[in-house]
Amino acid sequence: MSEPIVLGIESTCDETAAAIVRGRELLSNVVASSMEEHARYGGVIPEIASRAHAEAFVPCVSKALADANMTLADIDAIAVSAGPGLAGCLAVGVSGAKALAWASGKPLYGINHVIGHIAVTQLQFGAFPPDTLALIVSGGHTSLLHVEDMPRKIDVVGTTLDDAAGECFDKVARLLGFPYPGGPHIDRHAQHGDPHAIRVPQGLTQGKAGAAHPYDFSFSGVKTAVARWVESEQAAGHEIPVDDVCASLADSVATVLARKAMRGCEQYDSNTLIVGGGFSANSQLRAKLLEYGDKHGVEVRIPQIKLCTDNGAMVAMLGVNLVEAGVAPSAPDFAIDSAMPLTKVSM
Ligand code: KG4
Ligand code: ZN
Repeated sequence: MSEPIVLGIESTCDETAAAIVRGRELLSNVVASSMEEHARYGGVIPEIASRAHAEAFVPCVSKALADANMTLADIDAIAVSAGPGLAGCLAVGVSGAKALAWASGKPLYGINHVIGHIAVTQLQFGAFPPDTLALIVSGGHTSLLHVEDMPRKIDVVGTTLDDAAGECFDKVARLLGFPYPGGPHIDRHAQHGDPHAIRVPQGLTQGKAGAAHPYDFSFSGVKTAVARWVESEQAAGHEIPVDDVCASLADSVATVLARKAMRGCEQYDSNTLIVGGGFSANSQLRAKLLEYGDKHGVEVRIPQIKLCTDNGAMVAMLGVNLVEAGVAPSAPDFAIDSAMPLTKVSM
């Protein structure tokens, strides 16, 4: 099989998505979001998200097939996110995918959603070089990975000891009164602010803690520092310079991520950095990574915005990698894993 054709299905959180990838080519990409139904609660309500997945599953898969001018008979395998994510949401996508696999007799791969976030870069930049470094920045994860051999050997080099970068942004956004998810609002305001207006700490970069954790991250101190500053300004009756707060926060987080990623590239002798996850849509991070990559002679591969947030293309692309590598499909009765570890690429 030269160019495997894989249908990818995604339902870890509030996006129901399906896409078809042939080799490194995206043939169709359909995303339905229940985000608006959650906004007034200030976060994703799992029960609402699960119901939305159940409603959107068949229309999404049907449209992905139709857009690619295909039926299930034309594809070589099905891939579905088996974790990590919300259990009820994963159950809808995985059950639906199992039904499709059963009915069509196609092999099924239960894949790791987070690894999908970096796999998707191959649609734009081609296959991973061997022994490369990857930075994952999603709502729940901030990690540096050493991808020795995609998709066979992936190790965790560093990870967040507390909040993920996306989580930190979402929490500060809530404090500033932005609706969920707050990350994109901080991004927009940051574009008009002064990144050096407020001193925001850069967690685990200095002293003993920095030396002990060169590749780990900590963003809860950043969140607390910004919260304290905003509260004290409010108490003093000052108006909050929202753009400056956002710009200072974004600059601090982007700088830490870019510095540690470049240090990791140096340590692992990698001149490529693969980037992925919802937070890699952040314009301050994208600019900082490209700037640092330029300085350090590292090619930074960041997905186009629509492939940063959750989608089916990332799932299908990782499915293609598994088929190409000759990895056995998942057992017909494989379980979902809402806390699937980053070292496990498929079930
Ligand atoms: O990867 P993702 O879609 O969901 C998970 O798998 O976790 O990531 C969602 C996260 C949210 O925290 C959201 O606020 C953040 O990505 N995000 C952004 C931007 N777009 C999405 N954060 C900052 N700037 C953005 N432009
Ligand atoms: Zn995601």
